[in-house]
Amino acid sequence: MEIFVVPNAGGTGAVAAGILAAVIRSRPDAVLGVATGGSPLPVYEALAGHRLDMSGVRGFALDEYVGLPAGHPQSYAEVVRREVTERLHLDPASVFVPDGGAANPEEAAQDYDRAIARAGGIDVQILGIGHNGHLAFNEPGSALDSRTRVEALTERTRQANSRYFDSPGDVPVRCITQGLGTIMEARQLLLVVHGADKADILCEALTGPVSPECPASVLQLHPHVTVVADEAAAARLMVVPAGSVHGTGLVKVRAGAAVA
Ligand code: GLP
Repeated sequence: MEIFVVPNAGGTGAVAAGILAAVIRSRPDAVLGVATGGSPLPVYEALAGHRLDMSGVRGFALDEYVGLPAGHPQSYAEVVRREVTERLHLDPASVFVPDGGAANPEEAAQDYDRAIARAGGIDVQILGIGHNGHLAFNEPGSALDSRTRVEALTERTRQANSRYFDSPGDVPVRCITQGLGTIMEARQLLLVVHGADKADILCEALTGPVSPECPASVLQLHPHVTVVADEAAAARLMVVPAGSVHGTGLVKVRAGAAVA
């Protein structure tokens, strides 16, 4: 695992965008896994500044609400269109979001996994983390090898996301989410985290037991994880250069009081 600790949210965007830009330069038809929520917004902003040729890049969103009317501004299809496709000048025909309006959402979820496989898999999956450790919409209790599927949202997540809706009751109760097993198949995972309110859960995810109770703990099992955190989010981690690979940016992470 590599972890970069930067002063603030803007710094997380700059570092993560630099990583993505390098991937896109070496592979102009890269498949990006794109995340919604506040954490990745500085990344998309910074990546736009690289002015890369993005015409061949493909994208798959992590998740979507079930049951919002088509074109609802808070549907992830719309958020991804605004924040990712338009901002980065991606070809809209090459950016996919689970179909939360499908007559049969379960079938749509299975189709989504097949579409990712047909695209050759995801090169880099951008991730945020929820306060309860959720990844995408994999809530606590999700199987570590779960596939893309329909899930119920917890009250905590609905409450957290109510900031985007007119009233808390407007937040959908179900979603389609890439499964943890699906996410783990991406060749690289890029977790972006900022803010003191994420410090406890980031520490638990990276240093606690690997368990469905903290879905993001599954990251510990992936061979290529890059974490980009600001100082506030990393406050409970002690980042120790791993002896034999010192200087390569590879580190061991453990719970602690300081970032060294
Ligand atoms: C949302 C999304 C997740 C996101 C998480 C954290 O519910 N489904 O993909 O990572 O919550 O969001 P934020 O980055 O706004 O804290």
